[in-house]
Amino acid sequence: MTPRPEIVRPELDGPFPEHIAVVMDGNGRWAEKRSQPRVFGHRAGVESVREVVTSCARMGVQSLTLYAFSVENWKRPEAEISQLMRLLKVFLVRERRLLMKNGVRLSGLGRLDDLPAAALEELRKTEELTGDNDGMLLRLALSYGSRTELAEAARQVALDVREGALDPDRIDDETLRSYLYDPLTPDPDLLIRTAGEMRLSNFLLWQASYAELYVTERCWPEFREAELMESIHAYAKRRRKFGGLVGKVREVVGEDSAGA
Ligand code: FPP
Repeated sequence: MTPRPEIVRPELDGPFPEHIAVVMDGNGRWAEKRSQPRVFGHRAGVESVREVVTSCARMGVQSLTLYAFSVENWKRPEAEISQLMRLLKVFLVRERRLLMKNGVRLSGLGRLDDLPAAALEELRKTEELTGDNDGMLLRLALSYGSRTELAEAARQVALDVREGALDPDRIDDETLRSYLYDPLTPDPDLLIRTAGEMRLSNFLLWQASYAELYVTERCWPEFREAELMESIHAYAKRRRKFGGLVGKVREVVGEDSAGA
């Protein structure tokens, strides 16, 4: 097997986002502006997925989570849903070589059993094939919705309490986290949304509590390596406080240190 391309971290003015999450929006608008059917935009969106996945993997991003299909997206016309599911299936087969070459481990996130059997089968095969890769984790959020994820977690918490396996007095943030779909992947550092809307759209509501948000007017098919780099440079300039004080500790508590 050919060796994996060397990891090259960009030079930045600040920290590097170890986990990037993306709301890939604007495929339809991008196509409509070109008087093309929406599926034309989704196809071009797949090219962006390929480019962003490859460049994140080569920069050494630890996790990349892409919002590919939400629980609400099942409300779209049947024809568009089947086009998206077909694109997903083809992507999962065609990209295997590139995922392997870049050491990417792929994993689905969401109510995966809702997917059509053919797409689910290819997803499972790709998860299995890439399962031992030790490079970037690529999570595809599919039939994903945060409220559903939290409702499912709450239901399981209730069952465990009822069975005596969980003491309600000991439930804290970390307990609840352990009931989410993927408790072990650290929270996203940078959450990118394309096509200009200023909302989270039911994506990683728990996990994105302290993510730095980056919204660009560009539609997803136009979001390629150069735009990704812009977002990473913007992130590096942010000062994260996680509700604490950065650079103000000294003046408040009289110490010569600052916590992030
Ligand atoms: C939002 O654009 C995008 C989606 C609902 C799906 C994202 C899907 C892809 C990028 C292609 C398939 C993905 C994979 C991983 C193979 P929109 O159609 O809602 O755009 P609009 O808001 O302009 O209508």
